[in-house]
Amino acid sequence: MSENLQNLLNQKIEEYKSKTQISQNLQSDAKKYMPGGSTRTTQWMDPYPFYAKNAKGQIMNDVDDNSYLDFMINATSLILGHASPNVIDAIKTQTDIGTAYSAPTDGQTKLSKLITDRTPSMDTLRFTNSGTEATMMSIMAARAYTKKQKIAKFEGGYHGTHDHVSISVGPKASELNETTNPGVLQYPGQPESLLDDVIVLPYNDIETTKKLLTEHRNELACLIMEPVISGLGYLPLDIEFLEFTREITKELNIVLIYDEIQSYRLAPGGAQELFNITPDMTTLGKIIGGGLPVGAFGGKEEIMDLLNPSSSNYNLSHAGTFNGNPLTMEAGTVVMEELTIDKYDAMNELGNNLRSKLNSIFNELEIDTQITGIGSLFGINFNDTKISDYRSFIKNNNILTKILFMGSINNGILMQTKNAGALNTLSTNTETNKLVESTRMIATEIKSNL
Ligand SMILES: Cc1ncc(COP(=O)(O)O)c(C=O)c1O
Repeated sequence: MSENLQNLLNQKIEEYKSKTQISQNLQSDAKKYMPGGSTRTTQWMDPYPFYAKNAKGQIMNDVDDNSYLDFMINATSLILGHASPNVIDAIKTQTDIGTAYSAPTDGQTKLSKLITDRTPSMDTLRFTNSGTEATMMSIMAARAYTKKQKIAKFEGGYHGTHDHVSISVGPKASELNETTNPGVLQYPGQPESLLDDVIVLPYNDIETTKKLLTEHRNELACLIMEPVISGLGYLPLDIEFLEFTREITKELNIVLIYDEIQSYRLAPGGAQELFNITPDMTTLGKIIGGGLPVGAFGGKEEIMDLLNPSSSNYNLSHAGTFNGNPLTMEAGTVVMEELTIDKYDAMNELGNNLRSKLNSIFNELEIDTQITGIGSLFGINFNDTKISDYRSFIKNNNILTKILFMGSINNGILMQTKNAGALNTLSTNTETNKLVESTRMIATEIKSNL
């Protein structure tokens, strides 16, 4: 069985290589100057990434003139599609009058108003240049507010690349300890002391989470979590678990931080609005920058006041040469203004239909698969164990995952390497049906090689 599947995967890789010769040459050159030819882990793929030439709307073209229907949309960030006309106009207008100032612009106020008005947990916010900086600053703010040092996060939770959140992000099955805590370091030389400072919890496990949070309550500044787990095929956490984490953090005086860097696209106020749960702080990124680098963190006034240089409570400095840069502010403002409630509804409904069509394919073919996701987010997982946490997710069949990913690219469909993706406001049944038909073709090939 696995030999047939390996052969099928090899065929898919050979087909990809034959279509992407120019990319292969560019990659050989890039490798001389950047490790693996890449400056971003998620831009790299095996055997090598195709190189982008241009993109418009839902289509991305590569340098070999292959076209892809883009469900990756730069890691879910381009919610209006590529090169959205009003966004591009706003960027061009701003470019003509300056790309960075050391003085504030009104664009910062416009975008922060648009976001805080629609996000229940954000009384005020600060902009950063990336989601990584947003989660880092939110943790610092929680520490400064509680005067406590430790943080809690979940096994399999990704919150960017700084050290404190880089514990138990994606450990291999062979690296896992019997329990989630103590966690697993990400790289050799990472300070072992982090394992004391970062308490690692299992998703959807109320009993263990309660025990660990209670045990460390006097040292825990915050719990940082996604309500919808991006790295697990956009798995929404059980509502009872979400309610429980809200209640217990309140009870134990632990700041609850929602990382909504991806899930903010689910409703005007993000997943917190959808689930009707208000965290103490929220981090954002991706869609709010109109396709330019961005992040934001915000929360209750009493916490955010620590960043206010004119307040007697001021105790946390937050600098950053390009924070709130005018290009991002103008582009982000256009996106947030264009994201009306009917656009969210349409994307979410299309997502529901897509997930149900994908489910039907695998049910008909009797291939053990779970379609995860919510709203405009989806994930296709070859797994016969119910996915509820990191340990069940990593039982996903690796080779089937790769066959579907590579086969989809050859069919002109771009998803994330784990076969997850996102819709955008331009998506219609035409695009989702193309994804469904391509998936059906590849699933049928898989079936005949099982
Ligand atoms: C949930 C989550 N948190 C944090 C980040 C980090 O954001 P950035 O890549 O902008 O640093 C990401 C990025 O993929 C993310 O998905």
